[in-house]
Amino acid sequence: MPCQRIVDILRSATCPQNCDLTPMKIPEGKAVMECRDLHFHYHDGKEAVAGVSFSIAPGEAVALCGPNGSGKTTLLKLLTGLLSPDEGEVRLGGRVLDDAGAKEAFRIVGMLFQDSQDQLFCNYVAEDVAYGLKQLGVPQAEIRDRVDLALHLCEAEHLAHRPIHHLSGGEMKRVALAGLIAMRSPVLVLDEPTSGLDPAASTHLIELIQHLNHTHGSAFLIVTHEMDRVPLLARRVLVMEGGRLLADGDTRSILTDVPLLEQARLQPPAITKFYFEKALRDGKKADWLPLSVEEALSHDAASPRLLEAEVSRAV
Ligand SMILES: Nc1ncnc2c1ncn2[C@@H]1O[C@H](COP(=O)(O)OP(=O)(O)OP(=O)(O)O)[C@@H](O)[C@H]1O
Ligand SMILES: [Mg+2]
Repeated sequence: MPCQRIVDILRSATCPQNCDLTPMKIPEGKAVMECRDLHFHYHDGKEAVAGVSFSIAPGEAVALCGPNGSGKTTLLKLLTGLLSPDEGEVRLGGRVLDDAGAKEAFRIVGMLFQDSQDQLFCNYVAEDVAYGLKQLGVPQAEIRDRVDLALHLCEAEHLAHRPIHHLSGGEMKRVALAGLIAMRSPVLVLDEPTSGLDPAASTHLIELIQHLNHTHGSAFLIVTHEMDRVPLLARRVLVMEGGRLLADGDTRSILTDVPLLEQARLQPPAITKFYFEKALRDGKKADWLPLSVEEALSHDAASPRLLEAEVSRAV
């Protein structure tokens, strides 16, 4: 379902209308991103990624969760070609990511860094958002349109002419995201995208991701520690621990598996934890757990015992 607030922004009179957001197509039947048996050691001998394999289909939205130091950022850098694996391979749109495939990779995948200061390097905002498009040789008029639209969508058009080094952390994150949106890559990897954003900016970013995913079929791999937001962002969750993939499954089965999450030093969403603990306290088996407050409310409203109580009150 398209996100109504983003649709309204796109329809507003001030929104640049000259370009769309549809990502580049990848060859039919290929995974947009795939890794097989990836291994990576840092120079000091630390094995940060130890045999990771998975694939992401076009249009999938996947969350990557794991405790600090479990190898999430290192994995994203391997998937985007910023680091090269010691063993194993990465394929983007079916093509092996090696020196020869690096330019093509730049079109297929974009990465939002954990720390935006590592990402932005031009002097001015609009120049930075345009950087990748210039490298690809996109015509000047189209660059202008794509940059204007991306800044508008990220609620950052007022920053266009500001020097990067004057921006706040949250403003930098929005500008970095605009740079990725302008590229229209078929897959985006986002490393803790909401960290450092205020609640309204976090919600806006999540709605933007939902819109690009649902309406335009952009795929996402999103690292987050905000477990409450995972059900909003992703239909599949990967759990990483000690450089390995501990689990890979649909969002409900992973987020309601409290022992699995505890093994990875993670917690389920707060509402899920509440229902789990309540069932434990009542000595019952938690055969159903909600992932959101809305789910909990509609389940409780539909539960026979509550309905019965309501009916008996009414008669
Ligand atoms: N440049 C580096 N040199 C040596 N070791 C590193 C380097 N960068 C990361 N590491 C180590 O590799 C491991 C994985 O780090 P990584 O940054 O990938 O973890 P992460 O899961 O992203 O953690 P966080 O949730 O804190 O961001 C950690 O033990 C870390 O100390
Ligand atoms: Mg990290």
